[in-house]
Amino acid sequence: MEVNLLPKNHLLREVESKVNFMLFSGNSNPHLAAEIASYLGTSVGKAFIGRFANGEIQVKIEENVRGQHVFLLQSTSTPVNDHIMELLIMIDALRRASARTITAVIPYFGYAKQEKKTSGREPISAKLVANLITVAGADRVITIDLHAAAIQGFFDIPLDNLMALPLLSDYFTKNRFKNNNTVVVSPDAGGVARARTFAERLGATLAIIFKRRPRPDISEVIEVVGEVKGKRALIIDDMISTGGTLIAAAEILQERGAVEVYACGTHPVFAPGAVEMVVHSQIKELVVTNTIPVSDQALKSEKIQVLSIAPLLGEAIRRINGNQSVSELFN
Ligand code: R5P
Repeated sequence: MEVNLLPKNHLLREVESKVNFMLFSGNSNPHLAAEIASYLGTSVGKAFIGRFANGEIQVKIEENVRGQHVFLLQSTSTPVNDHIMELLIMIDALRRASARTITAVIPYFGYAKQEKKTSGREPISAKLVANLITVAGADRVITIDLHAAAIQGFFDIPLDNLMALPLLSDYFTKNRFKNNNTVVVSPDAGGVARARTFAERLGATLAIIFKRRPRPDISEVIEVVGEVKGKRALIIDDMISTGGTLIAAAEILQERGAVEVYACGTHPVFAPGAVEMVVHSQIKELVVTNTIPVSDQALKSEKIQVLSIAPLLGEAIRRINGNQSVSELFN
């Protein structure tokens, strides 16, 4: 189910930009691009993105961008390699067309799971992708809830790592979770800072699950720390990929006496089979954002709610273009 939280007066909002800007989009998330354009009172720039007969990506920017500050939206979601190449080729086209600056707006930054070597002879794919984006000609990056915050440092250009947390916590506050016997649960040690802030916002207590991955994409719970018995548990994660982390967390929370389990996550990666797992699980509700488009199957499910991230991205673009603070958005 899609939940539209766009402010009613968004069309009246004045775009106080000091300079001209244009919004373009790759093929990863056209619906989100249209929502952001609507928030900003503009339209998505015209660009042709097709294929040559040999399968290579063909791009043509079909509007004059000379001297413009260009914001280019593209999540590097599945098919991740195609979406990365589209992003790089569009940046190249915009640069050669004399755009004044190019900001890559990447709501979901893929290849983020390999952000460090965990054993010998492994790549650091996140750094490689950061290099590619920079070398292609991006001047700035806007993204949301990077899988690992340290990826910010892989870029030598300015990067704004926005947070979906206020959007998610507002949803649960409006749905009577505030100060209401709720325990916020981080499904792994890496998510504790996010879960702690979320718990503070909701007036909830905090629990942490320790997990291990015996193999890539397989999640096993080791232990739960914190009181969950008799409480309503609310899991928060940065992404739901296979759904394994979420389902394993929900199972152990119920075993330990949680009365209900809810969940939220920024990026609905939803690998094949993940939506079915969530729909058939004990999880009462899963709330995600539209950094990645979700399938019709997920949209039809009463259990999965999708919040629009467009107002946050639109506001960040408006502020960056007007040289205003972005961090104030989160104060
Ligand atoms: C930790 O690795 C992440 O924060 C997520 O928990 C994880 O990426 C989710 O992946 P999956 O849904 O495949 O368990």
